[in-house]
Amino acid sequence: MENTRNINEIEAAKQLDIINELKAMYDIEYEKTKIIKTYHIETFGCQMNSRDSEKISGILRQIGYKETDTEDADFVLYNTCTVRENANNRVFGRLGYVGKLKKSRPGMLVALCGCMMQETTAVDKIKESYPFVDIIFGTHNIFKLAELIKTRLDNEKTAVKQSDKMVIDLWKDTEMIVENLPNERKYSFKAGVNIIFGCNNYCSYCIVPYVRGRERSRSPKDIIDEVKALAADGVVEVMLLGQNVNSYGKNLEPRVTFAELLREIEKIEGIERIRFMTSHPKDLSQELIDVMRDSKKICKHLHLPLQSGSSRLLKIMNRKYTKEDYLDLVDRISKAVPDISLTTDIIVGFPGETEEDFLETMDVVRKVNFDSAFTFLYSKRTGTPAATMDNQIEESVAKERFERLLAEIQSLSSLSAGKDEHTVQKVLVEEVNSQDENLLTGRLSNNMLVHFPGDKSLIGQIIPVYLEESKGFYYIGSQVW
Ligand code: SAH
Ligand code: SF4
Ligand code: F3S
Repeated sequence: MENTRNINEIEAAKQLDIINELKAMYDIEYEKTKIIKTYHIETFGCQMNSRDSEKISGILRQIGYKETDTEDADFVLYNTCTVRENANNRVFGRLGYVGKLKKSRPGMLVALCGCMMQETTAVDKIKESYPFVDIIFGTHNIFKLAELIKTRLDNEKTAVKQSDKMVIDLWKDTEMIVENLPNERKYSFKAGVNIIFGCNNYCSYCIVPYVRGRERSRSPKDIIDEVKALAADGVVEVMLLGQNVNSYGKNLEPRVTFAELLREIEKIEGIERIRFMTSHPKDLSQELIDVMRDSKKICKHLHLPLQSGSSRLLKIMNRKYTKEDYLDLVDRISKAVPDISLTTDIIVGFPGETEEDFLETMDVVRKVNFDSAFTFLYSKRTGTPAATMDNQIEESVAKERFERLLAEIQSLSSLSAGKDEHTVQKVLVEEVNSQDENLLTGRLSNNMLVHFPGDKSLIGQIIPVYLEESKGFYYIGSQVW
């Protein structure tokens, strides 16, 4: 453990040196041109990727880049996702566009990183069809960004062909957790905090364990220090991030549970709200339910992916719980935290799914009455066990089930929407409404949105708001004075 720590610290120091070296170089360029270089990041996928993009932003800003909101920039980076096939297709679409843009912008750098880059076939296709890409790295080495930029700039001087200039640095897996590099935050008052990287669960349809590597928990001290620093900087809400937060601490010496970590974070002054994502039902302990019941800060929202309501399919999916286990868990949580909002993920059309299996999913959906559910058509991911199962479902059958599920979820949520109508709730004010600048948008503890008239000086504060009217997915409210 101590040794790994030293390696991580040495690596961080090395990267900081390279950041400073690039900064000095860019400063000299600026003195000549008086132009500040711009960067643009497009992030696909989940919160893990969003958090990585913040770290990448931090490094780029430190080097001297400033952010711009279009791809007409000096440095364009796509942080990719590959959880479903359509995520990949979107990236190839963007690359077609940026390739044309690059022709009219000499010196522009195009970089790719994230989960899709961990797949050899995707990288081969990029080398073949998009040779203008300058830098490719993966999910395990984002801390090396400055070094990769430097190598790319050095290649400019030595490489003969365009293809020799491309810098590719991909790691299969890593033990490293490099802390204390420059860092950015999208919001001043709320922040995502990684607590565990990777995933060991190998759900049979899922590519994440192959592209994000083995589970690695950050040390409780590093997490607590980060949250304390965030609180000192005005952050009131933290979102603890991991593919399976309930698995936190299993590989730490001494062992720490997720519930214990939450108890420590709860004590940090200034933090008013704690969220976490994602919870795997098989690892959600009674200890965690007790902590949620007793906590004043943990938000009344739990995202608990179901995937399927059929115990038979859940077994083939390698989820390690049954329909009954899931319903029992929901029952215990709902009793402990009566006003909790439950949301979920469901996959339709997994190989071998029968009408009976599908009806089991519909049954759980009706019994639990989720506040919202993300539904996905099963997508075949090369390298996962499900991809080679010989009973793949026809697309038309899967789509028909998908539509039925969606309709059921919509009709159930319209019945239960507005549970909090005509009550006063605490709201974290997040931003000016994107449609109407006289309105502010905030979130209730249960993650529901509320729009209400107010002054933008309230952004970042937690204030009481009267929920006048439910509009299904959001409320219209008014500030309580
Ligand atoms: N770690 C989280 C979710 C990660 S991926 C968890 O365990 O719940 C987010 C969601 O994408 C998953 O919950 C699942 O519903 C969906 N998903 C993952 N692989 C998929 C695939 N091959 N096809 C369709 N949906 C998939
Ligand atoms: Fe994928 Fe399962 Fe891991 Fe979630 S828990 S990331 S669905 S393998
Ligand atoms: Fe996508 Fe990677 Fe997240 S595959 S869902 S960005 S972990």
